[in-house]
Amino acid sequence: MNIILLGPPGAGKGTQARILVERHGLVQLSTGDMLRAAKSSGTELGNRVADVMARGELVTDEIVIGLIEEQLDGEAGRHGLIFDGFPRTLAQADALGELLASKGKSLDAVVEMRVDDAQLIERITGRFTCGNCGEVYHDVTKPTARDGECDVCGAKEFVRRSDDNAESVQVRLMAYYRSTSPLIGYYHAKGLLKPVEGLGEIDRIAASIEAALNL
Ligand code: AP5
Repeated sequence: MNIILLGPPGAGKGTQARILVERHGLVQLSTGDMLRAAKSSGTELGNRVADVMARGELVTDEIVIGLIEEQLDGEAGRHGLIFDGFPRTLAQADALGELLASKGKSLDAVVEMRVDDAQLIERITGRFTCGNCGEVYHDVTKPTARDGECDVCGAKEFVRRSDDNAESVQVRLMAYYRSTSPLIGYYHAKGLLKPVEGLGEIDRIAASIEAALNL
């Protein structure tokens, strides 16, 4: 099964993708994670995108399509995939359709996660992640069970994203409404859209997604 998790910044795409990976053996392809990895390893690509990401703007279509193409050509391409944070523009959506078709694959569903803006800002400004395994937490809604220790791997180092500040969040939301939200109509017209309420308990939302996907 190949699916897209579509939603604004902070909608819970990464959180839900990790649950689907764990329960259903899918592979998560997050262009945000790929770009952050390039940034922290100081590659030429990482240096090129660092400022754009810090401001909350979109990286060029050419760069992110290239990253996804590399993944589809590699080991990930042999598994069921969750596209997290990709596509984000109509050009990326067209490119994804062509890439999948060229490999004899197709999309099964696009889960649209709906969350209102006030909640998104609270979620993003309270987010932190494990520096070792990447588990996602929140200061209020999902703290670690033991103070300062990751529930999953026990690591004691956590990171906060440099673009998780109020100024950049506003730019990210604008980018979502301007460039990404047209994908809702695009995938609705293809009969693939599955809207899911993104407010509420994390486990309950996971159950709604599983029901929408018949998992
Ligand atoms: P990316 O990393 O994709 O960020 P994003 O889309 O802004 O999404 P987030 O990771 O912020 O949110 P999420 O929906 O995954 O929420 P999460 O589960 O973490 O992209 C970053 C940047 O990279 C972009 O701005 C752009 O510059 C660039 N980029 C990436 N892809 C690109 C592309 N395709 N094209 C161009 N540029 C691209 O949850 C958020 C918080 O809420 C967490 O703290 C979590 O614990 C909490 N939470 C989750 N669910 C719930 C719940 N149900 N109730 C309460 N709290 C919850």
